[in-house]
Amino acid sequence: MTSPSAPVPAPADATPAVPRIAVIDLWKAFRGKEVLRGVNLEVTAGESFVILGGSGAGKSVLLKHLIGLIQPDRGHVVVDGEDLTCAEPAVCLQIRRKFGMSFQEGALFDSMNVFENVAFPLRRHTRMTEAEIADRVHECLQLVNLDGIGRKATNELSGGMRRRVGFARAIALQPEILLFDEPNTGLDPLTSAVIDEVIIGMRDRLPVTMVTITHDMRSAFRIADRIAMLRDGRILAVAQPEEFRQLPDPYIQGFLAGEPLEEEVA
Ligand SMILES: Nc1ncnc2c1ncn2[C@@H]1O[C@H](COP(=O)(O)OP(=O)(O)OP(=O)(O)O)[C@@H](O)[C@H]1O
Ligand SMILES: [Mg+2]
Repeated sequence: MTSPSAPVPAPADATPAVPRIAVIDLWKAFRGKEVLRGVNLEVTAGESFVILGGSGAGKSVLLKHLIGLIQPDRGHVVVDGEDLTCAEPAVCLQIRRKFGMSFQEGALFDSMNVFENVAFPLRRHTRMTEAEIADRVHECLQLVNLDGIGRKATNELSGGMRRRVGFARAIALQPEILLFDEPNTGLDPLTSAVIDEVIIGMRDRLPVTMVTITHDMRSAFRIADRIAMLRDGRILAVAQPEEFRQLPDPYIQGFLAGEPLEEEVA
């Protein structure tokens, strides 16, 4: 077990990995209720980092801090050496452009078909021509194994397909860091496994760093290079999957056994 802020061990002859994302003593309360209580973690370039935690543990709140959508009461989020928590708005915007995010509910625009959903960030943030946009949308849909469904309306899609369209939209601008909020929630086990395969495929084929938050243990073990456990507003442990299984902490063992101990009460 490594301490939450310890870097991933590097091969002996390599220079130590510089974290892409460092979260340092992050605190956040809403109306007096402390949600994050001193979170520390580091995400290394190119890894698939998974944050596990029970419902209401503060996973989405933490993820939104990583991209600057929520400001902490205290502490820092440092991305590639730039402190997102005290950066100028223009710098913040620049840092944010490194990220692609897939939100918990997919957040597709139901007034647009699949193609337009994926094209949306390209139209908004680039000056690409229609032909370039069409190529890029095609590429992104291919990456999530949804080639050829561009003309479909979003309400014709299954839950798993909606998620994948959300992923395609999140990668449209070629982000360097991808954030996934509960990519498997509400999906049956088979569809959930397909989603994990798509995530693994993206990790293997794209030069990205990934942070996924989930309470789905099976999914975490399929997609993670390292797993962190968030509990009571702090990171309880960070470990590689096999090592994580062996951690003696009763909360983690309960979680692994599918019998979480009494958790956060709202
Ligand atoms: N904008 C907000 N205003 C007030 N309270 C909030 C806000 N956002 C989150 N919270 C509270 O913070 C706590 C953690 O919420 P969060 O959404 O991060 O949980 P979560 O771990 O993502 O849970 P789930 O697995 O259900 O998605 C909850 O008690 C929630 O009500
Ligand atoms: Mg959440």
